[in-house]
Amino acid sequence: MSSKFGILAKLGFLQDWISTLIAGVNPAVIHNLEKYHVLKKVHYLSAIENVEGDYLEFGVFTGSSFSHSIRCCQKMQKLNPKVLNTKFYGFDSFSGFGEISEEDVHPFYTDENFSTSLKAVEKRVSRAARNIQYQLVPGFFSDSLRGGPVSFGIQKARIIFIDSDTYSSANEALIFCSSIIQEGAFMILDDFYSYRGSSSRGVAKAFNEFIEKNKLQVRRVFTYGMGGAVFIISKS
Ligand SMILES: C[S@@+](CC[C@H](N)C(=O)[O-])C[C@H]1O[C@@H](n2cnc3c(N)ncnc32)[C@H](O)[C@@H]1O
Repeated sequence: MSSKFGILAKLGFLQDWISTLIAGVNPAVIHNLEKYHVLKKVHYLSAIENVEGDYLEFGVFTGSSFSHSIRCCQKMQKLNPKVLNTKFYGFDSFSGFGEISEEDVHPFYTDENFSTSLKAVEKRVSRAARNIQYQLVPGFFSDSLRGGPVSFGIQKARIIFIDSDTYSSANEALIFCSSIIQEGAFMILDDFYSYRGSSSRGVAKAFNEFIEKNKLQVRRVFTYGMGGAVFIISKS
C-alpha cells in the first residue's frame, strides 16, 4: 500500500539530516537572528505608521542589536524620510549587572557573561551610524537614568528595547520611559518568558506593573527567539 505522504515518507534521511543540523545550532545564534528580524519588522511598522520620536535600548552589551537597529532605520528612509530624525540612545553599565538582588538571581544572568568595553562598542556603533545621531550612556541605570528623559532631551519614544534581563533593571528602565511613551510606540522585551515563565518575576513583572501604573492598553505583536516578545502601545 502506498503511503499518503508519497515521496516525503521515503526521505527520512533528509529529515534526519535537517534535524541534526538544527539541533546543532547554538541557541544564541537562533535568538540573535530572530532578534535582528523582529527589529527590522518594528522599524518598518513604525516608519509606515509615521510614529515620530527616539529609539531607546536598555542593555547594549557589545552594540550588536543597537548597530543593527540603526541600519534598519537607515534602510526605512525610502519609505519615510522622517525616520532619520530618530536619535538612538543606548544605556548600559558596560560592566554587567553589578549586584544582583535575591529576587533577580538567575543561573544565566551573571557578570561573567556580560562584561564589555565601551570604547569597542563606540567604534562599532560609529561605523554603522553615519547620518544617524546616537548617544551611548554608560553607568548602572540607578545612576544613569536618574535625571529622567528631559536630561537627555528625549520627548517621545518610537521604539523601546529592554534587554537588561532582570526585574530591577527593567523596572528602572520602564519608570524612566513612563513620560515618553505614546500610542503606536513599540516595546521589545527580551527575556519576557524567563524565570520559568513566571509573570511575577523578571521583565514580565516589570512590564505588567508598568502597564497597570500608566493605565496603558497594549497588544502583543510578535514573539521571537528564546523568549522575547514585542508589544505595541495601542492606547496611552
Ligand atoms: C543581554 S545583554 C544586551 C544585549 C544587546 N541588546 C544585544 O542584543 O546585542 C544585557 C546587558 O544589560 C546590561 N545591564 C544589566 N543590568 C543593568 C543595569 N542595572 N544597569 C546597566 N546595565 C545593565 C549588562 O551590562 C549587559 O550588557
